[in-house]
Amino acid sequence: MNSIQGMGISTIYLFKKKILKSVDFIMEDIEMKETKVKKKILGIMGSPRKNGNTHVMLSKILEGAKESGAETEIIFLGDLRIQECDGCYACWNGNNCSKQDDMNDLYEKISESDVLIFGTPVYWYGPTALMKAFLARFVYFNCTENRKKIKNKRAVLAVPFEENNLETANPLIQMFEKSFKYLNIPLIEKIIVPGVTERGEILKKEKIMMYCQEIGHELAK
Ligand SMILES: Cc1cc2nc3c(=O)[nH]c(=O)nc-3n(C[C@H](O)[C@H](O)[C@H](O)COP(=O)(O)O)c2cc1C
Repeated sequence: MNSIQGMGISTIYLFKKKILKSVDFIMEDIEMKETKVKKKILGIMGSPRKNGNTHVMLSKILEGAKESGAETEIIFLGDLRIQECDGCYACWNGNNCSKQDDMNDLYEKISESDVLIFGTPVYWYGPTALMKAFLARFVYFNCTENRKKIKNKRAVLAVPFEENNLETANPLIQMFEKSFKYLNIPLIEKIIVPGVTERGEILKKEKIMMYCQEIGHELAK
C-alpha cells in the first residue's frame, strides 16, 4: 500500500487543499513580480552642449537607474523647439497651449514619469535659457485640472559650473526649490558640482561619477 492509498478521504482532502494553497501562493508571488511596475525616469538635458558636463552627469544617473531596472529616457532641450510662456493662460481654460511647439508632446512624457531629473549648468548665476523656458511652461501643471498630472513626481537637480565657490549655484538652486515647492514636487536630491569648465571634464571626478550612478540606483527603487 503506498502512502496515498493509506490516507482516509478527509486526509486526502486536506492534503489536496494544502497543495492548492501552495500553488495559489506561488501564483500570487509570480503575479506580484510580474506586476512590479518599472520606475520611469526622465532626464532633462538643459545644456546646449552635448557630451558636456551636464550630459555626462545625467547619463551616469540614468545608467545607474537602468542597471537597477528602471525605464529611462533623456530629452535634449537643445534639439527641441520650446518657446517662452506668453502668460495667456489658455492651458488653464482647458485649451491647448497657444504655442504650438514641442512642449505639447513633453507634457504627456512628464505626466507618465515618476522622477524628473533637471540638468543644467550655471549660466550667469541661473539656469540656461533652454531650461528656463522649459520650466516656465510648467504653468500648464499649475491649474487645478492638470495638477494631478504632476502629482507624486519627484525631482532631482544636476548642476555643474566653472567657479569654485559653491555659493555660485545658490540663486539657481533657490529658483528650483521654490518652483518645486509651489508645484508640490519634492526635490529629493541636488548634485552640485563646482570647478568644471571644459566639455566632459567632470568625467575625471570619479567620486562624483560614482555618486551619480548610486543616485540612479536609488531612484529606481
Ligand atoms: C553663457 C555662459 C554663462 C556661464 N555662466 C557661468 C556662471 O555664472 N558661473 C560659473 O561658474 N560658470 C558659468 N559658466 C560656465 C559653465 O557653467 C561651465 O562651463 C559648465 O561646466 C558647462 O556645462 P556643460 O558642459 O554641461 O555645458 C557659463 C558658461 C556659459 C557658456
